[in-house]
Amino acid sequence: MSSLLVDNIGELVTNVPAAGGDGPLGLRRGVALLVEAGRVVWIGPARYAPAADRRIDAEGGAVLPGFVDSHAHLVFAGDRAAEFAARMAGEPYTGGGIRTTVGATRAASDDDLRDTVHRLRDEAMRQGTTTMEIKSGYGLTVVDEARSLRIAAEVTAETTFLGAHVVPAEYAGRPDDYVGLVCGPMLTAAAPYARWVDVFCERGAFDADHARAILTVGQSAGLGLRLHANQLGPGPGVRLGVELGAASVDHCTHLSDADVNALADSATADGSTAGDGSTSGDRQAGTVATLLPGAEFSTRSPYPDARRLLDAGVTVALATDCNPGSSYTSSMPFCVALAVREMRMTPAEAVWAATAGGARALRRTDVGVLRPGVRADLMILDAPSHLHLAYRPGVPLVRQVLHNGVPQCRL
Ligand code: NIG
Ligand code: FE
Repeated sequence: MSSLLVDNIGELVTNVPAAGGDGPLGLRRGVALLVEAGRVVWIGPARYAPAADRRIDAEGGAVLPGFVDSHAHLVFAGDRAAEFAARMAGEPYTGGGIRTTVGATRAASDDDLRDTVHRLRDEAMRQGTTTMEIKSGYGLTVVDEARSLRIAAEVTAETTFLGAHVVPAEYAGRPDDYVGLVCGPMLTAAAPYARWVDVFCERGAFDADHARAILTVGQSAGLGLRLHANQLGPGPGVRLGVELGAASVDHCTHLSDADVNALADSATADGSTAGDGSTSGDRQAGTVATLLPGAEFSTRSPYPDARRLLDAGVTVALATDCNPGSSYTSSMPFCVALAVREMRMTPAEAVWAATAGGARALRRTDVGVLRPGVRADLMILDAPSHLHLAYRPGVPLVRQVLHNGVPQCRL
């Protein structure tokens, strides 16, 4: 069996806090890391490194777990650059542009959609993302939602059925009928390709009753729950997600104290409080608040208050929300930099949220951390520490990525 040693590491981010407490990132120096059969099999002092078939010299760069981007919409066609330009000139974002993308997506061939998914997935990988959740939601017919998920499943196990993104034009004024379609034939066609079900619970999209109906029936079909909630204004979505045991509620831009308390209670109830990255239990039943600063950037909206959530003990994840309307970026380093600059997260909190936090949001224990036994998903930076991800915004610092232990070559 071929082995691969990564050595000359400047700083290793493990996300496994040491008993003595060296911060949430579990930083280690002077260590090397051995990979075999796609897994990390050993981490220890470099001078004791076992012999290996191959070696990667990190040249003093920082090594981190690959980013876990737990929220992205990659299956689409068309372009909404003009909508972005109009927003930058003062137009508000309403989510109405979703229907523009639905029209283009329905008209696209499978291969066109596949090319876009692969292009964006590869673009993300070059920036350090090794796990990516991908949603449907621009098909909104039985056939188009199923094919979106089938194509997404070609590149990720983390697929999410978002038939309840908006009510499509042909159901205008008949939202109950559309929800009936989503809960019935559309779910049946989508479920074989989906791990998760999601609803855009927002004024102008789906209300709490509709969201509850869709999530409940999705859960009965064996899907895990996630929710777009409290993006454009206050609302019931976050508390509904916590009540139903969603793995994550995403956006969380407009939160009441009751929303924050519900999230904090869910984090402590499952023994895995992780606002600071610490872990006091193995279960991961709490609801993560996934923040998507690319959306606030691209819609010129106020950012969510990450500090308030972290101080309350809420588990926070960062993700790109990559989509053609509200956040057309695949860059987790950009989101880390925004979170630090605009959302009052420390660089360590932001890096944790973009790696281990994303893994929590997907209820994964095999990614987002580096310790023996996990998947060998990691990135090597052209920089000596994780701080540089926020300190050097916009600079392509990711020099190498290992995915399942396989170097993605010179990136
Ligand atoms: O997460 N909020 C709903 N869905 C996307 C936006 C999709 C779009 O504008 O096309 C989001 O921001
Ligand atoms: Fe989204």
